[in-house]
Amino acid sequence: MCVSLMLLLLVCGAQSTHFYGTVMTYYPKNTNADGSLTVVLRYKLSFHDCSTRDLWYCPSLNCGTQTSLVLNLVDQESSGEWCQREGIMTRRVPINSQFQLELTGVAWININNGIMFWRAVTGVELRNRSDIGQANTSPQTTILPALRVPSNCRRDFHLLDFDPDGDEVRCRYANSSLSECFDCTTPSVLSLSESCILSFSPTSSANEGPYTVQMVMEDFPRQTISLTQNGGLTVNSAISKIPVQFAVRVDPAVPSCTEGLYLPRFLTPTPANKAQLYAPVNQTLSISVNAEANVSR
Ligand SMILES: *[C@@H]1O[C@H](CO)[C@@H](O)[C@H](O)[C@H]1NC(C)=O
Ligand SMILES: *[C@@H]1O[C@H](CO)[C@@H](O)[C@H](O)[C@H]1NC(C)=O
Ligand SMILES: *[C@@H]1O[C@H](CO)[C@@H](O)[C@H](O)[C@H]1NC(C)=O
Repeated sequence: MCVSLMLLLLVCGAQSTHFYGTVMTYYPKNTNADGSLTVVLRYKLSFHDCSTRDLWYCPSLNCGTQTSLVLNLVDQESSGEWCQREGIMTRRVPINSQFQLELTGVAWININNGIMFWRAVTGVELRNRSDIGQANTSPQTTILPALRVPSNCRRDFHLLDFDPDGDEVRCRYANSSLSECFDCTTPSVLSLSESCILSFSPTSSANEGPYTVQMVMEDFPRQTISLTQNGGLTVNSAISKIPVQFAVRVDPAVPSCTEGLYLPRFLTPTPANKAQLYAPVNQTLSISVNAEANVSR
């Protein structure tokens, strides 16, 4: 079993090298007249180049059928280091149940924590929540393929997290006992808090280079709720979970860690972290971001 899985991965992997991570979120769109549910799953996938194909697969029977998949290019790093795509997948699920989607392959970019095979798992929960009278929406977040930090500068990365249902969002590293990754070695140079802050402490130049970050983001109800399909179930653990995977590259030391010199400093009119902006339906929302780093690019 294990051997055939590994062979399959190696075969699939020939066309999917140089992985830079992924993230997937979901929201239930509507309940159809026949009781089926339409759910929209949005994901980002980062590779060295965007020609790489991907396939999220369903290990159970509850995933329904994919009714559409739209792929867009999100961004390409100017030096050609990475390319990020997004996928918008619509599925029609026969009953309001729970299911998982998985993405596996080989290989991560050459990284310091020596991880080769990748695996990302999304846990979708569509049963009716007693507190909001509808299906759950996952935490919403996004990622850059590669975060960079000079080896001598302390940095805290406040990862984006927002939950449309008002749930508490928590982060943790992916766990091999829960099959959330193949090799779950965590990056030695980073520490992750439950509140989704990734902290980097200054380290020696021997630790420079890229690392993989394989995280899971989960939403917890603020009080005990029940989930109903046919009969109830009481829940105060995580409702859904999404994979959040990317690379962190530790760069050579810089002469100063003051923001605005080698490290970027945000300037007006950049919105504050977690700012909430009004967006009318069907109208373009522009967000201006302005930053400076006088000595570096
Ligand atoms: C979910 O529960 C609410 C309140 O109990 C109910 O009004 C609603 O019809 C239910 N929705 C579904 C899809 O069963
Ligand atoms: C991984 O999950 C298992 C099973 O739920 C749990 O016992 C273990 O403590 C978890 N490991 C970590 C590092 O959280
Ligand atoms: C938004 O645009 C879509 C497609 O053009 C249209 O079907 C929909 O009715 C519009 N919604 C609103 C609120 O204007």
